[in-house]
Amino acid sequence: MVQSECRLLRGLLGLICLLPVCMCVEPKLCLPLKTVKESLNQSLRRRFMKMNFPINYTIQVHYEEVFRLRNISRLKSNEEEPLLDRDLQDLWLWVSQQGIKRILKVLPERHPTRHKYLSNLEKLFNDFEGVYYDLNPKDDQRELPERIQNIWDRLTDIDYEGWRSVTPKSILDNCYRTMLCLFKECFSQEDDNYDYCEVLNWRKGRKTT
Ligand SMILES: *[C@@H]1O[C@H](CO)[C@@H](O)[C@H](O)[C@H]1NC(C)=O
Ligand SMILES: *[C@@H]1O[C@H](CO)[C@@H](O)[C@H](O)[C@H]1NC(C)=O
Ligand SMILES: *[C@@H]1O[C@H](CO)[C@@H](O)[C@H](O)[C@H]1NC(C)=O
Repeated sequence: MVQSECRLLRGLLGLICLLPVCMCVEPKLCLPLKTVKESLNQSLRRRFMKMNFPINYTIQVHYEEVFRLRNISRLKSNEEEPLLDRDLQDLWLWVSQQGIKRILKVLPERHPTRHKYLSNLEKLFNDFEGVYYDLNPKDDQRELPERIQNIWDRLTDIDYEGWRSVTPKSILDNCYRTMLCLFKECFSQEDDNYDYCEVLNWRKGRKTT
C-alpha cells in the first residue's frame, strides 16, 4: 500500500518535473528564428541572391566567414576539448550577420535585392540577436575551446588578409543549412528525425534547398 502510494507520488513528481522541460522544447528563440527561416526560403534566395546578380558574380569574404556544415562536423569532432552548442550558435549568428553586411556593402542604394530583401533580412537577424542574447547572456568568465577562440580572433582581426571569393547566394545557402543544423529544436517537429547536420543528405538533394 505504502509502496504503491510512493510509486504514485513519484510518478506524479516525475510528471511535474517533466512539465517545464516539455514547455521548453520550443524555446522563445524559435519564433524570431522561424521568421528568419521563412525569409531564407529557397525561392527568395534564388530570386534575390542569384537572379538579381550578374552570372557568376562573387564578393570577397574572410575565410572564417565561410561557415558550412562541414565546418560544424569538423569543429565537433575534436573530443578532447568539447564544444557547447552555444559556441557554434554564436559563430553562426556573427558570420551570418557579417555576410549580410558584406553583400549590402557592394549593392547600389537602389538595388532591388537591398530594399526588397536584404535590409529586411538584416532587421530580422537583429531581432533574433536581441532575443538570443537576452536568453543566453554572454559568459565572459568562460574560456572558449582553443579552436573556437582562434576563429574569433581571426574574425575580429581588422588587419587579417585571408580573403576568398564566394557568390552572394552561397553565403545565405550556408547560413540556412547551418541554421537548421544548429537550432534543431526549433525545426525538428516539422520533419522528425531528419538530420539537418548531415552534409550527404543535402547533397543527395532529398531536401530541396
Ligand atoms: C517563400 O516565401 C515567399 C514570401 O513569404 C512565399 O511567397 C513563397 O511561397 C515561399 N516559397 C517557398 C518555396 O516556401
Ligand atoms: C560561370 O561559372 C561556371 C562554372 O565555373 C562556368 O562553367 C561558366 O562558363 C561561367 N559563366 C560565365 C557567363 O562566365
Ligand atoms: C570552414 O572551412 C573552410 C575550409 O573548408 C575554412 O576556410 C573556414 O575558415 C572554416 N570556417 C570556420 C568558421 O571555421
